[in-house]
Amino acid sequence: MSATLYVGISELVQPHADAGSSRDPLSVTRDAALLVRNGVVVAAGPRELVRSVPDVAAAEQVDLGGRAVIPGFIDSHTHVVHAGERVDDLARRARGETYASIAKAGGGIRRSVRHLAEATIEEIAQQSLPRLDAMFACGTTTVEVKTGYGLTPELEEKHVAAIELTAKSVKQQLLPTLLAHVPVSPTGIEREDVVRAWHDTVIPKLAKRVRYFDVFVEDGAFTADEARKLCGYARSHGLGLKLHVDQLRDGGGAALAASLGALSADHLEHTSAVGARALADTGVLACILPGCSLMLRDWPNARALREAGCEVAIASDCNPGSSPLVDLTLCGLLAATQCGLTLDEALWGITRGGAKALGLHDRGRLVPGERADLVVVDHTDFRAIFARPNRPPVHRVIVGGLPK
Ligand code: NIG
Ligand code: FE
Repeated sequence: MSATLYVGISELVQPHADAGSSRDPLSVTRDAALLVRNGVVVAAGPRELVRSVPDVAAAEQVDLGGRAVIPGFIDSHTHVVHAGERVDDLARRARGETYASIAKAGGGIRRSVRHLAEATIEEIAQQSLPRLDAMFACGTTTVEVKTGYGLTPELEEKHVAAIELTAKSVKQQLLPTLLAHVPVSPTGIEREDVVRAWHDTVIPKLAKRVRYFDVFVEDGAFTADEARKLCGYARSHGLGLKLHVDQLRDGGGAALAASLGALSADHLEHTSAVGARALADTGVLACILPGCSLMLRDWPNARALREAGCEVAIASDCNPGSSPLVDLTLCGLLAATQCGLTLDEALWGITRGGAKALGLHDRGRLVPGERADLVVVDHTDFRAIFARPNRPPVHRVIVGGLPK
């Protein structure tokens, strides 16, 4: 593959490796250039400096016309591969019912389980592709995708197969996660049997086809003890750990994620100061999901998380019920307007923060050696990316150095 030298960059935004607590999490270089070879960043920085790199003359030059360049977005928490929609849930919530009461009555997650059971693997992929295309158009170049609408070993395997089929036709990289979502099943077996099935069958059988393991810890979902047992076992199969915690009440989930050495603790709408401190002390990423908060009117206090010393990632949680959002720039905007982050922190949260929440060291910044996944913003000021939610000013998305 030949090399490309991108010039005409009004500002090149570089997230710092760590979000830090007392300084800006980004640095911005004006009048910049970027040299990419074989899909990897070779040099990035002031134009004259990049132009002095050996062999630069051999690179094809592409003028970006005075636009800002930022790393491609990394969505570290999604359920984007699913079947059907839950319009009824939305209507019921609008009439005052709660997420929990709808779930208890057989709606919510269990409705999506029925949809997944009724669709073919091909149909699930067909329904998921437009969502992933829309994510890409908004600048998302890496997407974590959870199972969890299977529940039984057979349907969880079907969900993994649907993610694998979908991954063949999308422009981004998809990183699959096994999600132990709720301990009920369409066949009505007891919760002890569900936990046993995850331990004896789902994890050992499917671990090689996924990268991460996640558990929803909540009343009506799994207990902390069940999560501890399954997470320990998943880790012994080489899977990185992620947890859904403290969504509906403070269940001590952040401290649980910290004690398990998870990559991230996600949701955190009700996390206490003690939980926030535990995440900060252990370096577990705090991942907020503002799309879900928008739909369920329950916001995490990201400012308090930052002040406790946490690094905050932002993900879409794209799912058919509580967060049908695909646009990470909208999630970043909501993180700023509703959860107390600055725009710089929001950009860190959807780039380097997403990478860290997935334990990835090869993306999320545009430094030498990292993947050349980037968004060319159709504006001179990178912050404009947050200013047009649902139609962000994306001029071009480049993955592995190649325009897609
Ligand atoms: O992250 N909280 C639990 N799981 C998902 C919701 C999935 C659904 O409602 O279908 C979440 O919000
Ligand atoms: Fe989720």
